[in-house]
Amino acid sequence: MEISQTQVIKTISKQYPCLEEILEEYSKETDKKVSNNNSDTVFGFWMQTLADLQLLDLELSGLTTSYKINSINRTVKFNNDEKYIRNRIAHLDLIKGKPTLYSFITDLFGDTNAYAFHNLYPYKGKFYPRVVRTLINAFNLTPGDVILDPYNGCGTTTHEASLMGINSIGLDINPIGNIISELKNELPFVSEKEFDKLLLKDLQKIYKLLENRKRTHKNLTMYKLMLMIYFDTLDAFTRTSRYNRKGKIGLFVEKFNYIKGCHYKIKEFLKKFNIEIKKAKIQKGNVLDLQKADIKKNSIDAIITSPPYYFSLDYVGKDEIAYKYLNEIGFLKETMPEIKNLYLGMRIRDNLKDKKILENKVITYFDDLKKSVFEMANVLKKRGKIAIVVGDSTIYSKKLPTTKKTHNYAKDAGLKHIKTIFNPLLGARNRAIRGESILIYEK
Ligand SMILES: C[S@@+](CC[C@H](N)C(=O)[O-])C[C@H]1O[C@@H](n2cnc3c(N)ncnc32)[C@H](O)[C@@H]1O
Repeated sequence: MEISQTQVIKTISKQYPCLEEILEEYSKETDKKVSNNNSDTVFGFWMQTLADLQLLDLELSGLTTSYKINSINRTVKFNNDEKYIRNRIAHLDLIKGKPTLYSFITDLFGDTNAYAFHNLYPYKGKFYPRVVRTLINAFNLTPGDVILDPYNGCGTTTHEASLMGINSIGLDINPIGNIISELKNELPFVSEKEFDKLLLKDLQKIYKLLENRKRTHKNLTMYKLMLMIYFDTLDAFTRTSRYNRKGKIGLFVEKFNYIKGCHYKIKEFLKKFNIEIKKAKIQKGNVLDLQKADIKKNSIDAIITSPPYYFSLDYVGKDEIAYKYLNEIGFLKETMPEIKNLYLGMRIRDNLKDKKILENKVITYFDDLKKSVFEMANVLKKRGKIAIVVGDSTIYSKKLPTTKKTHNYAKDAGLKHIKTIFNPLLGARNRAIRGESILIYEK
């Protein structure tokens, strides 16, 4: 049944409803019609691949004991744990007709990946946040547990764990990644006043200060935020002429306003669901020596991680502007080449000096990958779970068997294989990687 404009207007008590009020009334009506039955438990609207279906199954298997998936009707049936599942699951839009917390937050941000501060900065090779949420659910982790990501990048794992109120530790060799992870961790605790007080003229002044290598805020979190928005703006200009009409300051202000909007929405979300965000522990460190990073043997409940895919992305080079600037102002001591040398497979091994650089790097990459799998297995508690997301890169038309090798290293490290889910990257621009495998083990 169509709803007419007069019907909508009639349901609004005010004589002159504003556009938002009219749209709100329409959207209530649409919500009711999406499902065949108002008591349905319905798949996420974005679910389209077999991997999505497998991930839904995996998520449910961690959250409840008995359930039935109907993949033709895109519905699920289960009897217990309704409230618990509604607050945690990523792959369902509605449970018995009521929206899940995940569908609320993704609707609020208008995106199933760029919600909360996940889209703070375009870090290369980052996770899909919903995959992290799915794995946290599959492992049925609770607030007392500790999750580790020793390749934490820009902190997708730690940010998602924080939003779910679960303790986490994020480690990475990349200082830029660590700054972004710290920001995701700290921004929810910044007051709205800090954002609201910055008017256009203040932002223009801030941009000029940054250009002149001057500090913009006493508050370190706000200063780091301004720096990252500044680097992102400059980087965008080196890559495309699309923003020329806006100008650098225009783009800087636009990016600031985007983050301000995220900040406002995240506060609204936390208040509505009465969520106490758990700050993660973000630290600089090398996955090849977790002891040195003070991560003890048998101390971690779950690891959710993804090592760098050999050569497919230049994780360090992408942030050249940021490294140069931060070195210049003394914020960062290590230079870009120094960081690159600590990267998995990037260091040049002395005993292989006489061999060709590429061969040297491939061998070093697999040696390092193996060592990192052993290190991770070592810090996991007995029965602790680990999910490693990997893909096979192609070099000179040859595929590197990274997935297979990782699987063998995990078995050698004494981990018990539970499941592998292959997730095709259908829209990926990088044709060299067809998809990723999520390898899941228990210690
Ligand atoms: C695929 S990315 C992970 C991205 C992350 N999942 C995210 O969502 O941002 C791989 C990460 O491994 C890090 N890395 C490379 N070598 C490392 C090492 N030896 N120790 C720790 N981290 C390292 C890189 O800096 C990069 O951030």
